Amino acid sequence: MGNNIRLKTQGEMDAMAHSGQAAAKTLQALKAASAVGVSTMDLEMLAREVLASQGARPALLNYHPRFSRVPYLYATCISVNDEVIHGQPSSKAILKEGDVVGLDLVAEIDGWLADTAITVIVGNGSVKAQRLLSVTQESMWHGIKKAVAGGKMGDVSNAVQRLVERNGFGVIRELTGHGVGSEVHEEGIDVPNFGRAGKGISLQVGMTFCIEPMVTAGSPLIRHRPGDPWAVVTRDGSIGAHFEHTVAVTEDGPRVLTMLQS
Ligand code: MF3
Ligand code: CO
Ligand code: CO
Repeated sequence: MGNNIRLKTQGEMDAMAHSGQAAAKTLQALKAASAVGVSTMDLEMLAREVLASQGARPALLNYHPRFSRVPYLYATCISVNDEVIHGQPSSKAILKEGDVVGLDLVAEIDGWLADTAITVIVGNGSVKAQRLLSVTQESMWHGIKKAVAGGKMGDVSNAVQRLVERNGFGVIRELTGHGVGSEVHEEGIDVPNFGRAGKGISLQVGMTFCIEPMVTAGSPLIRHRPGDPWAVVTRDGSIGAHFEHTVAVTEDGPRVLTMLQS
């Protein structure tokens, strides 16, 4: 493993950062629009508009990942409450006060992709939901800090897991981050959200991957929602959260390619 990893040049990272801006701005618009009475399909349509206005293509639209029987038909994955990831937008899914909403999308400009996600609360959420979100986001940052040349992927994984479990939440084992660049899921890199420091592939300058903790408020066990080829939900019905950045390993440390620049 690891010999088919496509390392990126500085120029390619710059190109990904350009898509990253489009993705980050789109997420910001979706966050601002996530209000009571809005449907997740309204958010999908807004995402398409905002991406287009920035010259970006929605890379998830018609994307057919290896792990799925069918292509994905939307620009966004919008996952509400017990849905952890890959919720499909729907005009029937109307947001309510306190809903926990995962917003995930991939932007492409000139063939270069950036994948990023946030989770937001509609109006006022429970204290537990707020804590779940802040711990999940913080665990992503702990992982990002370990994305340095000379380190191992296990350093990233372990940093994420430790923060999550120290706070009493669950790390999903079956779902990982991934290499990204000219494809949504690039071969050779997996980014588990649990593992041992010092293990896993060696991190090298030029690697680009998504660090994306998927965390549950209860048991970390998941299942596919019956009759839905996409949505991943918690088994126990507890809420889930997901934050994601696309990160490059550079000589100067981790470079977050999907960070919103003001
Ligand atoms: N953006 C998702 C990720 O973080 C990928 C969604 S794949 C899809 O890996 F097919 F469901 F769109
Ligand atoms: Co994503
Ligand atoms: Co991803």
